[in-house]
Amino acid sequence: MSSIVAIVIEGPSARREELEEAAYALGVQGLEIVDEDVGAPRGRVVVRLWVPSGDARRAERRLRSALSSVSIVIEEVAPMTSAPRHVPLGRGFVVVTDAGEPGARWRARTALHLAGSEAFGDGAHPTTALCVAAIERWPARALRRASVLDVGTGTGVLAIVCALRGASRVIATDVDPLARRAAREAVRRHGLGDRVIVRAGMPRERFPIVVANLYRDVLIAEARGLAARVAPGGRLVISGFAASSSREITGAFATHGLRVVARSRRGGWGCQELTRDPAP
Ligand SMILES: C[S@@+](CC[C@H](N)C(=O)[O-])C[C@H]1O[C@@H](n2cnc3c(N)ncnc32)[C@H](O)[C@@H]1O
Repeated sequence: MSSIVAIVIEGPSARREELEEAAYALGVQGLEIVDEDVGAPRGRVVVRLWVPSGDARRAERRLRSALSSVSIVIEEVAPMTSAPRHVPLGRGFVVVTDAGEPGARWRARTALHLAGSEAFGDGAHPTTALCVAAIERWPARALRRASVLDVGTGTGVLAIVCALRGASRVIATDVDPLARRAAREAVRRHGLGDRVIVRAGMPRERFPIVVANLYRDVLIAEARGLAARVAPGGRLVISGFAASSSREITGAFATHGLRVVARSRRGGWGCQELTRDPAP
């Protein structure tokens, strides 16, 4: 059986997104990103990914042809440390992939414990990171005491991030019973049971904030229902679609009265923030 090795890329912080995109283009599911807030040298970023040792040289060659003037090193890793224990998420969170507490290096970030579930949403996927980045761009007052709807909650990661950033109430939905079980467990583990409700179906009310990291086809099929949940002046954050589908997604939501106010992309995935303008 092939062992696992780490490929470590180091470059200037300003090139972080380019480094991440090149790493995700190899098809890896998760990266460890260390910036200067959590121990990288000043002005530098370190991106670490894990591949089977038999694929390492090919992966290294692909990285070298995609990225100029960065350091790329292959490191042996002991079997027990072959997967990342800490996955930084957005600017303020770190997903801890075991039951332990994060070490000193990560203390400036809020720990999220989402381990041990089969549900989607361990924080390592670019679409989750894009949604968290959008949520973190809002001023603190935008979420404080707000009601939030998280559609397709998976492990509950986005619902938990919203609650930890001050939302007074979060309704988190998922069609998958395994995901609902994982989300309830994570909500309980973070002591948020009084503020985050996990359920199967969509509520009828409108929300000032809706987040929905779904899949392209689901977003298009559910555009009407999702748009109907956004209050006038409210925000909808969507991801889970390829960046190349962005125009099609914009069109699907425009039909139901939503306008794009921000777009972002990472590793070939897209994210949009939309609003429903208040009636004149
Ligand atoms: C891409 S995962 C996102 C998980 C998590 N929110 C995150 O950002 O990492 C999408 C989730 O949506 C759920 N899902 C798919 N279709 C859905 C629908 N129509 N309504 C609610 N949830 C849905 C899936 O079961 C899955 O857990």
